[in-house]
Amino acid sequence: MNILKISFHGHSCFSLEGKAGKVIIDPFLRGNPTADIKPSQVKVDAVLVSHGHGDHLGDAIEISKSTGALIIAPYELAVYCQRRGAASHAMHIGGSRRFPFGSVKLTQALHGSAADEDPLVYTGNPCGFMINMDDKVVYHAGDTGLFGDMELLGKLNFIDLALLPIGDNFVMGPDDAVIAAQMLKPKMVVPMHYNTFEVIKQDPDDFAHKVELYSKPVILKPGEHLEL
Ligand code: NI
Ligand code: MN
Repeated sequence: MNILKISFHGHSCFSLEGKAGKVIIDPFLRGNPTADIKPSQVKVDAVLVSHGHGDHLGDAIEISKSTGALIIAPYELAVYCQRRGAASHAMHIGGSRRFPFGSVKLTQALHGSAADEDPLVYTGNPCGFMINMDDKVVYHAGDTGLFGDMELLGKLNFIDLALLPIGDNFVMGPDDAVIAAQMLKPKMVVPMHYNTFEVIKQDPDDFAHKVELYSKPVILKPGEHLEL
């Protein structure tokens, strides 16, 4: 059996390491007070970026420029990154593609997407990712509110692990994330996008207690990992 290693780097940043490669999702590191690694420590084949907000695009362009890692993102954001010197591959919601490390399908996310420049630069629709690596399915919801088609995602995919935001204010709060888990039916769920800043302060143990009816909760601290 191949083992897929999922490491948490704070906020919504996770790296996935399988037998055919390694990816990082939403590498918000330098500006993230909870991050356990620096951008210079990231050695990956691809960087998946869910949307243009600074706490997700993060250090993606720098990582791509220094290592050649391919940024995989919705079209407008991929073009934004390319124009700033990154290597990128554009996709869009509903589309999937097989890469050497595994396959990626972009899912919808109810949110915004603009790069933090003045004035803001619009970077298309935000997304989530349904990732298949080593026959394991990992769903990273991105930044999103609860939406009913999570039910469909749960029907179409046997999700081994769902990474769900619980921070509230900008994204789902814990109670909506519990309903998301009920619809997605993942074997395991890891909360994300909380406690990085005061405005998204949450108690992950409270979420874990409420969600365990539907999925096995695992709370990761930055620097911790789990294996599938
Ligand atoms: Ni956002
Ligand atoms: Mn965010």
